[in-house]
Amino acid sequence: MFEKPEELKKIFDEKAKAAEDTGAVEQLRIEFLGKKGFIQGLMQELRNIPNEKKKEAGQKINETKQFIEEQIARRLEELKKAEERKLIEATESYDESMPVNVDLGSYHPITLVRCELESIFLSMGFAVEDYSEITDDYNCFEALNIPKHHPARDMQDTYYLSTNQLLKTHTSAAQNTILRKYKSNLESGNPIRAIFPGRCFRNEKIDACHENTFFQMEGIMVDKDISISNLIYFMKTMLSEVFQKDITVRLRPGFFPFVEPGFELDIQCLICGGEGCSSCKDSGWLELCPCGMIHPNVLTAAGIDPEQYTGFAFGLGLTRLAMMKYEVGDIRVFNSGNLKSLSQFTDKSFFDPDSIKEA
Ligand code: DAH
Repeated sequence: MFEKPEELKKIFDEKAKAAEDTGAVEQLRIEFLGKKGFIQGLMQELRNIPNEKKKEAGQKINETKQFIEEQIARRLEELKKAEERKLIEATESYDESMPVNVDLGSYHPITLVRCELESIFLSMGFAVEDYSEITDDYNCFEALNIPKHHPARDMQDTYYLSTNQLLKTHTSAAQNTILRKYKSNLESGNPIRAIFPGRCFRNEKIDACHENTFFQMEGIMVDKDISISNLIYFMKTMLSEVFQKDITVRLRPGFFPFVEPGFELDIQCLICGGEGCSSCKDSGWLELCPCGMIHPNVLTAAGIDPEQYTGFAFGLGLTRLAMMKYEVGDIRVFNSGNLKSLSQFTDKSFFDPDSIKEA
């Protein structure tokens, strides 16, 4: 009778009980099942067993091997669970009085400026509208009195998609849609007042004050008897709210096919105070808000009678405004993803539970 497999099981049982971590079990596996292990040794001994007993002996070895494999798997599972339990117990004991050490998030400076402007314009009765970044030639150009081959298109080269669509070059691309959406206001004797902030794209040579991706905020107001005075009033109110101080502005004539007359509203550079720096190209002024009276062709394209109604439009450079407000000297910071630079404008005390005073 070939007794060795039975003896081996007993030896294994004892050793397995003593193995107290996964490393020790792995050692056992090598010792018993490895290439030079006990089971392999028994296999070799088969050679010396008489032929008629070989089959039975072989079966016994195989059974023992299977038994050891199962035991190892079971023991490993037990140990893994025990280790997990230990880990949970260790992490469950925490000190409630420890301060929470999490990095608080922050708002992007352009988001901060956008939210501020939205609330200023909301308080003046404007609706805030959202518009997609992908548009088409009609909305971006044709409906704005910029026909094909018009030289004004030269300055607004953009990214064209294979679907005959394009990435909008200015927020003015939403004018036609928004005018149509609120046209019924006019019929019921109410003005159209809306702002629509958004991301714009252009083929630009990048430097401290030009980016291929930037933000604007368009605004329109249409009603009976709207004039340039209304435009100037809204622009002045908005800027003094944003900067919380008197801002020096100047109006220059500007050409945009969708307004007549058209203006450039410049503000004195807040970074250099008008002395001249790289952000203002040494001019002391920054183009902040082109604007004008909506061209009759634009109103007609939206189904509004220019004989009855007039309106103004402006395209505020949100990115520019953020540069001015936060004194950021290089436009490239905004798309840099550099959290160290971008997170410093959010008032974190807003999120800080300790700042909540008891009533
Ligand atoms: N869409 C123009 C641009 O990005 C800016 C602009 C000019 C918008 C005059 C207006 C406007 O609404 O009246 O170059």
